[in-house]
Amino acid sequence: MPKFEYAPAPESRAVVDLQSSYGLFINGEFTDGSGTSFKSISPATEEVLAEVSAASEADIDNAVAAARKAYTRVWSKMSGADRGKYLYRIARILQERAREFAVLETLDNGKPIKESRDVDIPLAAAHFFYNAGWADKLGYAALPGGANPQPHGVVGQIIPWNFPMLMLAWKIAPALATGNTVVLKPAETTPLTALLFAEVCQQADLPPGVVNIVTGAGPTGQAIVDHPGIDKLAFTGSTGVGKMIARAISGTRKKATLELGGKAANIVFDDAPIDQAVEGIVRGIFFNQGHVCCAGSRLLVQETIADEVESRLKRRLETLRVGDPLDKNTDVGAINSRAQLDRIIALTDVGEAEGAVRWDNGCELPSKGFWFRPTVFTGVTQTHRIAQEEVFGPVLSVLTFRTPQEAVAKANNTPYGLSAGIWTEKGSRILWMADQLKAGVVWANTFNQFDPTSPFGGYKESGYGREGGRHGLEPYVKGTLS
Ligand code: NAI
Ligand code: MG
Repeated sequence: MPKFEYAPAPESRAVVDLQSSYGLFINGEFTDGSGTSFKSISPATEEVLAEVSAASEADIDNAVAAARKAYTRVWSKMSGADRGKYLYRIARILQERAREFAVLETLDNGKPIKESRDVDIPLAAAHFFYNAGWADKLGYAALPGGANPQPHGVVGQIIPWNFPMLMLAWKIAPALATGNTVVLKPAETTPLTALLFAEVCQQADLPPGVVNIVTGAGPTGQAIVDHPGIDKLAFTGSTGVGKMIARAISGTRKKATLELGGKAANIVFDDAPIDQAVEGIVRGIFFNQGHVCCAGSRLLVQETIADEVESRLKRRLETLRVGDPLDKNTDVGAINSRAQLDRIIALTDVGEAEGAVRWDNGCELPSKGFWFRPTVFTGVTQTHRIAQEEVFGPVLSVLTFRTPQEAVAKANNTPYGLSAGIWTEKGSRILWMADQLKAGVVWANTFNQFDPTSPFGGYKESGYGREGGRHGLEPYVKGTLS
């Protein structure tokens, strides 16, 4: 097949006004913090973007106190309609400044500008619009508390690096809509858009202390989890840290929602439209470099079409453009960190050692930064670690099946249960499969589709609680289990 060369089409970074260092956002102001600091880099070039404060226990104490004061004096007394006005204002500012956010996200995270521009930032704004609409209608949302649902108070929120702004929106928008105030910690490799969001809070005249942004790594997160002034926690990240949080709060009054890992099956039947299915497989696992908790990392393909799907998939992967995330033509960007790249390398080496067959698209990789070629493993069996563990990178494991029953058994054979995909022409089979699959989200003839009106969350070790939709409001009011 002829290969087309693309002239570079770089997005300008002039729209971003990077400061050399950033403090913590507490009580509506940026403060220096009393802890140490760390650097956030661009994973595509290893360029240092900024120095960021690492919040100490004393800083968390200040942030929680600011959130408490804002909760008791202002936010809990405000009508839902007025809270909604602030959320609408934030949503509109995010839209107005969308390009700035998209470029900064791509710089700090390494994801293609095509994705931050078309997915992350528009969806983040959409979550604020959606939850703004609920703020004055909570009494009609069938929540615990009936006509008058009650917020928890101060919520601690800890988010990962794969969708920094989008995860911030998933966390902050429903918390504020329901009348809580928040202390949020972005991940240490991607703190910059959360700090830009702090500016948006100022621009929207949000009362001081309603949103506090504290940067730092694991110990800062731990200080939030352990702080006695926190009423509820919301966490997205690794299953290991999620389990630690569950242990840390057991026996306390704190509630928690946990959105953890996944090992989703993308199941292709022999009556599926193969070209569309191939696009869905690509979208399922190579979107955002595979740094997606609900990624379709296990392809289950019906045996009769396995060879054809495999060859069409490989041909398609050879056309993926891997490289400069700021280039509008780029399909696959940089791996988020050296540590994550090392994890991907280690687990794929195990895949090969255990006997699976490794293939990659052979593309050239930039000399600086963290990169991994789109990779496919065939000959994978269910006991292989690459079929069981989350690689969290651009790596697909291919398994086959003969009957729908076998597809269900294999799809469910994992400690996780976040998402799944089904590709078939038969509506009845879609419904039967969706009923059998132990996954919080099941996509039919599509994959990795997100919408603020639709709840998202897992079964088993993928966590508990839902985010998005009416269900996503529930964990933020009193009277729920999580
Ligand atoms: P992580 O779970 O350590 O990081 C997520 C967030 O938790 C970050 O903000 C981090 O600073 C914070 N954190 C770390 N230790 C903490 C602690 N003791 N208490 C409170 N907060 C803490 O994830 P990491 O190490 O970046 O990635 C490891 C693996 O986790 C990945 O390879 C991937 O498999 C999985 N992962 C899954 C995500 C998902 O969306 N489900 C997101 C990120 C990672
Ligand atoms: Mg960074």
